[in-house]
Amino acid sequence: MAIIMVELWIISLTAFCIADVSPPLLTVNLDLPPEERWAPLVELFNINLLRQVAAEVTWSMVPKWVQQAVIPIVKALEKYMPPPYGKEIQGMASYYGTNISNIILLNFAYEFTAFCTSVIAQDSKGNLYHGRNLDYPNGILRNVTIDVSFIRNGKELYRGTTFAGYIGLWTGQSSKTFSVTGNERSKEGHWWENLIAAVMKNMPAGWLLRQTLEEAANFQEAVMRLSTVPLITDVYYIIGGVHPGEGVVVTRDRRGPADIWPLDPLNGGWYRVEANSDHWLPAPRDYRRFAARWTLNRIGHDNINLETLYKVLSVVPVCNRGTIYTTVMSAAEPEYKTVLRKLLPE
Ligand SMILES: *[C@@H]1O[C@H](CO)[C@@H](O)[C@H](O)[C@H]1NC(C)=O
Ligand SMILES: *[C@@H]1O[C@H](CO)[C@@H](O)[C@H](O)[C@H]1NC(C)=O
Repeated sequence: MAIIMVELWIISLTAFCIADVSPPLLTVNLDLPPEERWAPLVELFNINLLRQVAAEVTWSMVPKWVQQAVIPIVKALEKYMPPPYGKEIQGMASYYGTNISNIILLNFAYEFTAFCTSVIAQDSKGNLYHGRNLDYPNGILRNVTIDVSFIRNGKELYRGTTFAGYIGLWTGQSSKTFSVTGNERSKEGHWWENLIAAVMKNMPAGWLLRQTLEEAANFQEAVMRLSTVPLITDVYYIIGGVHPGEGVVVTRDRRGPADIWPLDPLNGGWYRVEANSDHWLPAPRDYRRFAARWTLNRIGHDNINLETLYKVLSVVPVCNRGTIYTTVMSAAEPEYKTVLRKLLPE
């Protein structure tokens, strides 16, 4: 183990994970009917790029026989999707002149993309900082990453980062209220198996995240919803509020919470790091978790802020060849910044 630690730090000195550019910002007007909300997407991304993403993220991983089996499930889903989201997907299919089944599939494939590291931390004055890296092996997702400002009555209601064509969010913040990130928690299994649970009317995890940003009035309510609403898959939700102590990692089973892990600043728990394994289990191969903790301990309780948190998320291998984007945010300010990532060759 000690040798691995040293290795990590040698790597981190020789490779730099750089910030490329901020992604484009899209405005989605929630006062419009759901079918019309995503129309501005067409000006940013053409259908050929989305088709290519769909092909690489969905079909490339799916055996032929599963493709045959999935089609009728997707057709059944058209009827079951909860109203605003079903209509948003319908609208998207129509601007792109494509079959709604394709957009549904793309959405379910994106449900399986949140390999990542999330950190929630509190400084010694009680300010909260929340950050995340989103990792995915196929770099094409960098080409379709967007920040989205969801507005109502001409004002921003919440903001998030997502992939073109996905109506859910893995990262978002409701200003002055709370911030939330979602991380994959899959043991085995494949995204298409989640389709079956979806037909049982459970929510995709990224949709619940967005719905919570839209509807929850405060941190407590957000934690309650994200802990209890039935989901199609297991997931980790990391939630940060605006008052001291408002930070928690919720480990989800499909039906409800498996574990709730709050900040505990009075007893040394001034940060929580969650990657893609249960925090109470040893994860000797989870170098991202190890390196993030090591760096946070070096920075210390007094010096944590958005810039130093960004540094934690830039250390190799927390930031790695698969890192698509980094977001750092603080709901109280509010601050929200996303950058696309690129790893410089050594
Ligand atoms: C969409 O695709 C499915 C599966 O290929 C097909 O069965 C269905 O008829 C198509 N719908 C439209 C409107 O083209
Ligand atoms: C994705 O973006 C990179 C860098 O901007 C570019 O080189 C590449 O061709 C793009 N890929 C697609 C499929 O558009």
